[in-house]
Amino acid sequence: MITDLPTVRFAGLDPAGAETVVLLIEPELALGSQARAIDKKTGGQLTRAAKSAGFNGKRKTVAEVLGASGVDHSRILMVGRGPSAGASNQGLIDLGGQIMALLQARKSAKATVVAEGASGSLDANDAADLALGLLLRGYVFDRYKTKREEGEGAPVRPAITIAVKAPDAAAEQFERRKALADGVTIARDLVNEPANVLGPVEFAERAAEVAELGVEVEVLDAEAMDALKMHALLGVAQGSVRPARMVIMQWFGAENRRQKPVAFIGKGVVFDTGGISMKPAKGMEDMKGDMAGAACVAGLMHALAARKAPVNALGVIGLVENMPDGNAQRPGDIVRSMSGQTIEVINTDAEGRLVLADALWYVQERFKPKMMVNLCTLTGAIMVALGKEYAGLFSNNDRLATWLEEAGAATAEKVWRMPLDPAYDKEIDTKNADMKNVGGPYGGACSAAAFLKRFVGDVPWAHLDIAGTAMGSNRSDTNDGWSSGWGVRLLDRLVQDHYES
Ligand code: BES
Ligand code: MN
Ligand code: ZN
Repeated sequence: MITDLPTVRFAGLDPAGAETVVLLIEPELALGSQARAIDKKTGGQLTRAAKSAGFNGKRKTVAEVLGASGVDHSRILMVGRGPSAGASNQGLIDLGGQIMALLQARKSAKATVVAEGASGSLDANDAADLALGLLLRGYVFDRYKTKREEGEGAPVRPAITIAVKAPDAAAEQFERRKALADGVTIARDLVNEPANVLGPVEFAERAAEVAELGVEVEVLDAEAMDALKMHALLGVAQGSVRPARMVIMQWFGAENRRQKPVAFIGKGVVFDTGGISMKPAKGMEDMKGDMAGAACVAGLMHALAARKAPVNALGVIGLVENMPDGNAQRPGDIVRSMSGQTIEVINTDAEGRLVLADALWYVQERFKPKMMVNLCTLTGAIMVALGKEYAGLFSNNDRLATWLEEAGAATAEKVWRMPLDPAYDKEIDTKNADMKNVGGPYGGACSAAAFLKRFVGDVPWAHLDIAGTAMGSNRSDTNDGWSSGWGVRLLDRLVQDHYES
């Protein structure tokens, strides 16, 4: 079950008959043809209202005309498009987000957005990006609300008509944006879902739904993982009554099925209590989102398959619950990972790296991917370093790192490169085993990355620490919720720009 988004359809430029109309206005109050026509029919009410409100079309400003005479629109919203929106597509996506926020605040059930500036109609691509922004901001996680406060209607998922010169071309461009928006929605839903509802088994079932789009899905149960010797991952799961799962999703979109895949690997800790090294109570509820890396991979696989991306892509997620029962792993335990390397578990709360150690090794051994990117809410330390604006990027490959930085700038899912350095690697040496699962007191995101690197060979690899960006992150024009769905747009873009045939 995916949360419903607002609906979007495309029609010709003339908004005749619409009750609520949104007009994009450029600086110096430059009006497009439809806005000019409405202004004329109403005897200049648009320009008068704009002047009284001091509105002139600057970005992030709005002026509103209610009950204008001479037209059948009961509400007209003039939204500042600003000079820059046309220049970057992220600007248009953000503008769509701003418009959705305005409509939701007014509880508008239906609206027509005239996708036209002073110099004419938006082209198909730009209109589709505006629509993507509307969808992304239109996400509301409300499935557990059975009652509402007095006077508060159901949250609005407006039905939007986008008025544009070439509606059919825009609708066609919109299809891949819809695939992307659905992928983001899947990721957000999974992160928002509480852990009593979403254990490893339930997560695996939801991820497996992508099979409907032609993705080949395998689910490994604990027994299968035991046979593969994934004892680092299984050690984390052993304190929970809910068994671990690993989901393998393969999309064969390239011409040749045997072409090596690009691989995406996600940390899926459905709840992280810390285990025996238990976390303090304050804020622990947020640890239902400790599977955001896995959620992103599930959403990304959906997006790629739904838009029939011409690429072979692999998604692998390790799903466990980190709990402290009588069978839980203890500090000091030594586990043998699938790679054969042994790990002394100093702190059972550094569990994500134990899950990824086996997932990364498995992906390399079995699939020999072209490259791999893992995503994980891995450390609090990455938030100390970068706050909530950037995700941490660690990579053994400069080209891949640059591509990710570029995709991040293009999608506003920004990454900042952090060091992989032998000095951090030394921190995890221990006399009792090949390594321990924590480093020193400082630079915790870097020693965590050094740990993961010990499970990666020569393959181009990037590790994204998304603890600050995937949940409770900064609100933006396109995301007003706790869970952002971070990474789906970034990686879809990376694939599109560099790995499609
Ligand atoms: N899931 C947490 C990291 C985290 C913290 C994500 C806050 C999102 C918000 C991870 O498993 C963890 O507990 N990391 C420890 C590592 C430490 C024990 C070396 C941390 O960051 O404190
Ligand atoms: Mn933890
Ligand atoms: Zn964790």
